[in-house]
Amino acid sequence: MNIYGDQAQYLPLILTDLEDRLTDLNQAQPTKLYEHLIGRVKAEPSMIEKCHRKGYPVTAHSALRECKDAIAIRLVCRFIEDVYTTVAVLKQLDWAQVVTEKDYIKNAKPNGYRSYHLILAVTTPYPDVDGHTPGQYFVEIQLRTIAMDSWASLEHELKYKQNIDHPERIAKELQRCAEELAACDLQMQTIRHLIHQDEEA
Ligand code: GTP
Ligand code: MG
Repeated sequence: MNIYGDQAQYLPLILTDLEDRLTDLNQAQPTKLYEHLIGRVKAEPSMIEKCHRKGYPVTAHSALRECKDAIAIRLVCRFIEDVYTTVAVLKQLDWAQVVTEKDYIKNAKPNGYRSYHLILAVTTPYPDVDGHTPGQYFVEIQLRTIAMDSWASLEHELKYKQNIDHPERIAKELQRCAEELAACDLQMQTIRHLIHQDEEA
């Protein structure tokens, strides 16, 4: 029995549909909102592990209602201001409602992690876990810059490495690295503004 129950078959369809909508939205902008996107349906073992970790029963209801990231899309932007522009655009969509938002850019996690997280509720043509058609599904949207994304993937990789010799040293280096990247993101944005000023002059 799949943890997503009867809804398992719809998750990839919903993901593809959302990716298409976001791609269209990106192409309709005068300057693109994000540089690329990457989506995934959370694999069953990861969802089962998450239910255990959060103390939820391993049910389709937990996986699709208590957990809200069975479907997730990461939008990787070139500049910090593009992240905020994209968030504003997502908030205006008539086909999605914002359920929660976390600004880990203004409030970075202690380890240095930076991203803007939104949980959206979307209406789909498919039945949902509560038996409603059209059905409601949650999707996690992570927005970050290219610099934040490269940091997060390195940190993610290291998190799963066992028997590391200098864990405190590594954590401190990673934190420093996150701060340097954040400073670079600001510098890049300043350069962009200077170039635009020159163009307008
Ligand atoms: P999860 O139970 O892990 O989903 O976390 P949460 O429900 O408390 O939400 P949160 O917004 O903190 O994290 C959601 C997702 O953001 C995670 O599944 C990761 O993909 C990403 N994330 C959050 N914190 C970190 C971090 O410190 N490092 C990295 N690499 N990714 C993170
Ligand atoms: Mg998650």
